[in-house]
Amino acid sequence: MVPLNIGMIGYGFMGRVHSNAYRQVPTFFPGLRYRPVLKAICGRDAERARAFADLWGYETVETDWRRMVERPDVDVIDIGTPNSTHAEIAIAAARAGKWVLCEKPLAMNRAEAEAMVEAVEAAGVPNMVWFNYRRVPAVSLAHQLVREGRVGRPYHYRATYLQDWTMNAELPQGGQTLWRLEAAVAGSGVVGDLLSHSIDTAMWLNGPIVAVTAVTETFVRQRRHQQTGEIEPVTVDDTVMMLARFANGSLGTFESSRYARGRKNFNTLELNGADGSLRFDLEDPQYLEFFEYRDPSGRKGEDHLAGWRRIHVSAHEHPYMNRWWVPGTTIGYEHSFTNALADFLEGVEKGKPAQPDFRTALETQKVCDAVLASAASGRWQETGVELPER
Ligand SMILES: NC(=O)c1ccc[n+]([C@@H]2O[C@H](COP(=O)([O-])OP(=O)(O)OC[C@H]3O[C@@H](n4cnc5c(N)ncnc54)[C@H](O)[C@@H]3O)[C@@H](O)[C@H]2O)c1
Repeated sequence: MVPLNIGMIGYGFMGRVHSNAYRQVPTFFPGLRYRPVLKAICGRDAERARAFADLWGYETVETDWRRMVERPDVDVIDIGTPNSTHAEIAIAAARAGKWVLCEKPLAMNRAEAEAMVEAVEAAGVPNMVWFNYRRVPAVSLAHQLVREGRVGRPYHYRATYLQDWTMNAELPQGGQTLWRLEAAVAGSGVVGDLLSHSIDTAMWLNGPIVAVTAVTETFVRQRRHQQTGEIEPVTVDDTVMMLARFANGSLGTFESSRYARGRKNFNTLELNGADGSLRFDLEDPQYLEFFEYRDPSGRKGEDHLAGWRRIHVSAHEHPYMNRWWVPGTTIGYEHSFTNALADFLEGVEKGKPAQPDFRTALETQKVCDAVLASAASGRWQETGVELPER
C-alpha cells in the first residue's frame, strides 16, 4: 500500500467526519492502493488543534492553512472549513500539486467555482466534493434502478431538506459557531447548505436541471452578531422553494428550510416515472421504497397487483454493503463518507475520477446561483448546466 499523507483543514463537524473516514477506509476497503495517513490537522487555535490531533491520531498541527499547503510531506488537502475559504484554499492547494477534497457547497458562487475547476484541471490533480448522500446505499441503489430503466420515462422529481435549528429568534448569528447565518461567510443560507445536496442528488439521478424559478424568505430579519455584539440584518435565506425543469422533460419541486419545526435533517426524494417510482428518506436511511408498475409475474400494467416495496438495503448485493457487516445489519451517516473516500481513492487508482469532481459540482453551483437570481428577480432562470443528459 502507498501511504497518502492527509492534511485536514478544519477540526469542526466535518473535520471529525472526514478523520473517521480516513481511519476506516483501509480496514473496510482492503485492496486499495492508497492508505491515508493522518499527517497534519490545521486549525487557527493551536491548543484546540493539538487536542484534536491527540484524539484522532494526527501526527502534526498547523495553525495557518498556507503553511499546510506548502508542506512537501502532505499529499492531499481536505477542506472542511466555512464556505468563504474553499476557493482560496483549493486553488492554492492545486497550484502546489496537492490532491484536493472539498466540502460542499463547492464555492460561494459560480465564478469562484469556475476558478477552482480551472485550478485543479490546470494542475491535473485528483479532486472531489463531499456530496456524501450519493453514497448512502439506498440512494446508490436508487441510481442503479434508474440506470437499469426500472422507473421508465420520468415525470416528477420531488425533494425536501428540512431542519429547525434556527427558529429561535434569540439565536445570534456569525462567529465561530454560527457562520452559516452570515452570507459573507456562507454565501447563502439553505440554498448552499441544504438545497445544494438535493440538487446534486437530483442531477445524479435524473439528469441536468435546465431552468428554475424560486422563492426564498428570511423569517427572522435581525439577529445579534456574535463578534460585534450588535443587532444586525440577517443576510441569508431561511427557506427556499424551487420549481425545476429537467433536460429529460420531467418537472421537479424542491423545498429546503431551517424553519420546519420538528425536522432535524429531513432529507427526502421521490422520483415518479412511467414504469415505477422511488422514494428515500434520510431519517429512515436503511430503506429504499420502490413501486414497480408490473405484477410479480413480470406482466406490466396489472396495477391491482402492484404495490410499494420497502427494500431493506442491507444485503451484500446492495451498493457498498459487502464492505460492512452481515446482511440485515445496518450502517449509518458516517459510512457514506467512508464509501465516498473509497470511491475517490479507487478512482485515482484506476484513472476514472470519482464523482462529483469539481467540474460536476460546478454544475450544482450554477443551479444554486440560478435559484438565488430567480428569487431576486421573480423570473424563471436558465441554469446553463452542462452535464450529459440521462
Ligand atoms: N457533506 C455534508 O453533509 C456537510 C455537513 C456539514 C457541513 N458541511 C460543509 O463542511 C464545511 C465545514 O462545516 P462544519 O459543519 O464542519 O463547520 P464547523 O464550524 O463545525 O467547522 C469549521 C472548522 O473550520 C475551522 N476554520 C474556519 N476558518 C478557518 C481558517 N481560515 N483556517 C483554518 N481553519 C478554519 C474552524 O475553526 C472549524 O474547525 C462547510 O463548507 C459546510 O457546508 C458539509
